[in-house]
Amino acid sequence: MTPPPEDPNIKLREHSYDGIQEYDQRLPNWWLYTLYGAIAFWIVYWFIAIQAGSVQPDGQRVQAEMTRIAAVKMASSIDVSNDAKFWEMSKNPLFVDAGRQTFNSLCVACHLPSLRGKSETPTAVGPDLTDTAWLHGGTPKEIYHTVSGGVLAKGMPAWEPVVGQKKTAELVAYILSHHHEGETITVQASN
Ligand code: HEC
Repeated sequence: MTPPPEDPNIKLREHSYDGIQEYDQRLPNWWLYTLYGAIAFWIVYWFIAIQAGSVQPDGQRVQAEMTRIAAVKMASSIDVSNDAKFWEMSKNPLFVDAGRQTFNSLCVACHLPSLRGKSETPTAVGPDLTDTAWLHGGTPKEIYHTVSGGVLAKGMPAWEPVVGQKKTAELVAYILSHHHEGETITVQASN
C-alpha cells in the first residue's frame, strides 16, 4: 500500500483488506460529468431512437438489405418459363412495389388502380385481374405471355416492347401479389 499522502484533506477508509486501504475521495468532476452525460444521452437516445422509432432496428435493416439483394438477384436472372420464380418475385416487396409503380402509370386507365377493372366499374375497358377467372390463362407464365404480347384484337396492348422484360416481370409479380399459389383457376374464353 502506498503510504497516506501528507495532505490532511485526503482521508482513508476504515476498512483494510490484506493491509490494503482505500482513499475516501470525491470522484473527479470530469468523471462525474462523463457519467451524467452518458445517462442523459441514453435517455434522449432512448426517446428518439427506440420510442419514436426514428432509428431502424438492426433486425429490420438486415431484413431490408436481404430483400434488396434478393430483388437484384431475381431481376438479373428472370426466367419467364418458371412459374415458381414468378411466385417468388410476387413475395418480394421491392419487386412488387416496382410493378405497382409501372402498373399505376400504364395499366390503371383500363384495369383501374384496384386491378378490378370491369368488376368494379362495368364501363372499364379491362377485365378484373384479381379474380381467379382468366381469359388467357392464370398461371404466371400465361399472365406473362398476355402482358408481354397483349391481346391486340381486344384492345390490350403488348407491353414488353414498351417497357422491356424486367418491368414486364415486375408487372406480373404485382398482379400475382393479389393471388396465391395453388388457387383454383378457371379459364373462360374471351368473347
Ligand atoms: C387500353 C386498355 C388497356 C391497358 C392500358 C391495359 N390493358 Fe390489360 N387488358 C385490356 C383488355 C381489353 C383486356 C382483355 C383482353 C381480352 O378480352 O381478351 C386485358 C387483359 C389483360 C390481362 C389478361 C386478363 C385475363 O383474364 O386473362 C392481363 C394480365 C392484363 N390485361 C394486364 C395488363 C397490364 C399489366 C397492363 C399495364 C402494363 C395492362 N393490362 C394495360 C386492356 C388494357
